[in-house]
Amino acid sequence: MVARPPVTVVIEPMRADDIPAVHDIERASFSAPWPTYAFRQELESNRLARYVVAREGDHVVGYGGLWLMVDEAHITTFAVAPASRRQGVGERMLLELLRISESVGAAVATLEVRVSNLPARRLYEKYGFRPVGVRPRYYTDNNEDALIMTTGELSSREMRGRIARLSAELFGSGVGATDTAADRRGGADQRSPGVPRGGEAVG
Ligand SMILES: CC(C)(COP(=O)(O)OP(=O)(O)OC[C@H]1O[C@@H](n2cnc3c(N)ncnc32)[C@H](O)[C@@H]1OP(=O)(O)O)[C@@H](O)C(=O)NCCC(=O)NCCS
Repeated sequence: MVARPPVTVVIEPMRADDIPAVHDIERASFSAPWPTYAFRQELESNRLARYVVAREGDHVVGYGGLWLMVDEAHITTFAVAPASRRQGVGERMLLELLRISESVGAAVATLEVRVSNLPARRLYEKYGFRPVGVRPRYYTDNNEDALIMTTGELSSREMRGRIARLSAELFGSGVGATDTAADRRGGADQRSPGVPRGGEAVG
């Protein structure tokens, strides 16, 4: 059982003025971090992209994002500040990304993860991602393989049941209980998709 995160942690859409804090976490988390302009480009120009941050008061403690590719949501990046790990922040963000994915009609969610990244693999497995393949030498910094992980159908009984159970465990209340900007707005962001930038996804 994880320690409960502070109640002030909320998941909200990433804004341009979040980018410096996001980049600090990115540099602390990845050996080949995205530059700040990549995040800016994603927010400003990529209509396929959805990015969220986990905010504790005024501080960004995590971020993640995805591309909506036809009927598939591809998680592009995902990280929690080192000091805020193992408090359920990653789970909260993943729940929101899966909720966004299903709300815009994605059938499944998918991602790449370094084969050595066991914390991330455990998190994704907990949320129903399963290994479906390997991209050999995908990560150019050390030629490490990427494991491709994909969920079952997001609308399936199995995935919905899993998400409902994990939400209830995490939030200690009813099915699907989350504290997100979208909830407070009363629904998901439904912008129409456009063209993604290229590049490697999460690692
Ligand atoms: C992976 C990462 C996002 C997890 O975020 P987090 O907020 O610490 O995760 P949570 O506290 O929500 O943990 C949820 C689950 O993830 C798994 N997990 C997280 N950290 C783990 C660890 N160090 N070892 C094993 N499992 C771990 C567990 O299944 C955990 O559930 P449990 O508490 O019931 O065991 C975080 O470690 C991180 O930012 N790592 C560096 C960046 C990165 O690897 N991003 C993913 C790229 S694919």
